[in-house]
Amino acid sequence: MSQTSTSYFDQSAGQWDKEPRRIALMKAVGQAILREAKPTGQMDVLDYGCGTGLISLFLLPHVGSVTGADSSPGMLEVLRGKIQAGGLMGMKAVALDLEKQEVPDSRFHMIVSSMVMHHVSDVDRVLKAFHQMLRPGGIVAMADLDSEPGLFHPDDAAAGVHHHGFDRLEMKARLEAAGFGNIKISTAHVVQKPVAGGELRDFPIFLAVGSR
Ligand SMILES: C[S@@+](CC[C@H](N)C(=O)[O-])C[C@H]1O[C@@H](n2cnc3c(N)ncnc32)[C@H](O)[C@@H]1O
Repeated sequence: MSQTSTSYFDQSAGQWDKEPRRIALMKAVGQAILREAKPTGQMDVLDYGCGTGLISLFLLPHVGSVTGADSSPGMLEVLRGKIQAGGLMGMKAVALDLEKQEVPDSRFHMIVSSMVMHHVSDVDRVLKAFHQMLRPGGIVAMADLDSEPGLFHPDDAAAGVHHHGFDRLEMKARLEAAGFGNIKISTAHVVQKPVAGGELRDFPIFLAVGSR
């Protein structure tokens, strides 16, 4: 993750949950994860690029534990505030950037990640790290933008955008190359967002699920 992108997310963290579009997206992706990846109450889940923990906290009642990991100290600070305020057992927030750091020793039954990969330069490195961090039989569930013409973020450079979404077949091939099998990709949500000029545009969001 670039320094620009870290400071963008640090600066956005305090206001992040105030955007209704993000809450609607989190609910749709969370429900798609429940439906397609079927987490159970015993699972230890990693939410990579957790931000303020919207997806983490949605999943927490359905699983054994959630570790929220992010490279932005500002995002993690907001999530730690929620964990403390709610006295949330089974939830923790950790600093992690798999583009820069070695793969940690912790192992999970499921890794989820929503709207993170288009901010990641070396997607293949991160997917391989996911594979390594999963227990045998573990599941990855990753949501991101379908390929789009570069309109989703008003300023790519400021937001540290490395990809204008992903082609689904290309993402399937990347997941297979990282070692995942049984890959299924479905539509989790369609974000409606005004773009330059005020026109409202649809941005479909896919959920890719695969197993180790
Ligand atoms: C668009 S936000 C999504 C946050 C959250 N998943 C959600 O759905 O609300 C992207 C998040 O990914 C984090 N991120 C970007 N690049 C990362 C990296 N290389 N490692 C870890 N986190 C990263 C950002 O700090 C930010 O919190």
